[in-house]
Amino acid sequence: MPEEKTFYLETFGCQMNVHDSEKVIGALMQQGYRQVQTVEDAGLVLYNTCSIRDKAEQKVFHRLADFKKLQSQGKRFGVLGCVAQQEGARIFERAPHVSLVCGSASYRNLPHLIEELEAGTQRITGLDDRQTDETFETEFTARSNPYRGYITIIEGCDKFCAYCVVPYTRGKERSRTSDSVLREAQRMAEQGFTDIQLLGQNVNSYRDPSHRMSFAELLAAIGEVPGIRRVRFTTSHPRDFTRDIVDAMNAVPAVCNHVHLPVQSGASSTLKRMLREYTRDQYLERIAWMKASPREISLTTDVIVGFPGETDAEFEETISLLDEVGYDGVFSFKYSPRPNTPALNLPDSIPDEVKAQRLAILQERQRQIQAARNRRHLGENIEVMVEGYNSVRGQWIGRSAQNKTVNFVAAGAAPVPGGYYEVRITATFPNSLAGELQNTSWVPEQTFTAPPTLRVLQ
Ligand code: SAH
Ligand code: SF4
Ligand code: F3S
Repeated sequence: MPEEKTFYLETFGCQMNVHDSEKVIGALMQQGYRQVQTVEDAGLVLYNTCSIRDKAEQKVFHRLADFKKLQSQGKRFGVLGCVAQQEGARIFERAPHVSLVCGSASYRNLPHLIEELEAGTQRITGLDDRQTDETFETEFTARSNPYRGYITIIEGCDKFCAYCVVPYTRGKERSRTSDSVLREAQRMAEQGFTDIQLLGQNVNSYRDPSHRMSFAELLAAIGEVPGIRRVRFTTSHPRDFTRDIVDAMNAVPAVCNHVHLPVQSGASSTLKRMLREYTRDQYLERIAWMKASPREISLTTDVIVGFPGETDAEFEETISLLDEVGYDGVFSFKYSPRPNTPALNLPDSIPDEVKAQRLAILQERQRQIQAARNRRHLGENIEVMVEGYNSVRGQWIGRSAQNKTVNFVAAGAAPVPGGYYEVRITATFPNSLAGELQNTSWVPEQTFTAPPTLRVLQ
């Protein structure tokens, strides 16, 4: 009897990586592999890695060091994702027990690379990077949630912001045809998915290769697929954020009223050094379109503090921007110098203590802003999709269209995961809302228990 082929996969980084892992899992299962939940049980151990900041990159090398001794038991190790693309064959020097190094722009060759691995080749690389025009599509995607699923519509990045590794790790911008995206959405709707999240490093830089639909039109078309109740999209780039996206949100109720629009800094001078190619005013113009919308649109963003040369006055402009916009969430990071990026030519001049101090000031201010913004929901009825149950707190966990976490109690029959319910908000916090179940809006015909296929570490 041939030995059973098993793999363990751990995922780091952004939603694009999470979804890539779902596709990699599907592709491996198609090749006769079974997923296992521990490194010890696996013949093939894969890490899908992130290199956005130095800390993220170090995680994978720590993992590889932890399991080095297991190679003698015949296990093969592979590094996928952004660190794989960035470091290439240098990974074999740092971690000689690794056999496979493959960046995301080469995943379509993965079945072939895995065959080579099985045939006993010691060191295999798939590092297409900026050469390829192709996207990675597979009909075998092993989605880990039966109700809410991702669709990648555009891969790569051509923007080359001064601090960022993504254009070097993810290859050039390449979009899927609107037909192929719509077909996937329809297939998912038939399988029982009701919530779709469109993904791209810059999702709104989408350019239909068949020239049939703009990003806003695609968004609206997916929102109109029968069975789809929610369509989300992330991440939007301010430079390509057009007014018709707001129009699509207003015209199609299933398009969720939430936009994640990373600003990075509130100072035009810093934005210029970051090579973001927009000013504070241009960014705020886009925010104004959304604030003028008849539907209340929730806004979230990303901010980097301590970019080379950032003065106190520039940092203050970022704080004043947070006050002006009133975000519902902010992901904030200390600047981390990254290989190959243009910002390496600027001295990393802000001491770590100052970066840490700015981060703490910003996060405290944002906590107050969020507390105040969430208070406005008190007494409202909000529709949530149920995601799970917290048995310690005796509360159900749901998510609103605006992507807010809503914890709630249910007096009568237990809510069904994947179902939509009206919840009356009775308490608010900076990071969540709490309430009581009022009505059932919709429940799925089939109930599933999701297989635990994915382990994600941020
Ligand atoms: N394409 C998106 C961002 C993708 S990266 C955009 O342009 O907005 C996710 C976030 O990581 C970025 O928005 C940025 O805030 C942060 N980031 C990227 N490179 C970084 C670096 N070198 N140091 C610190 N944070 C970084
Ligand atoms: Fe990075 Fe800029 Fe591309 Fe975003 S747009 S992924 S920050 S280079
Ligand atoms: Fe995502 Fe990290 Fe790569 S954020 S694109 S996995 S560098």
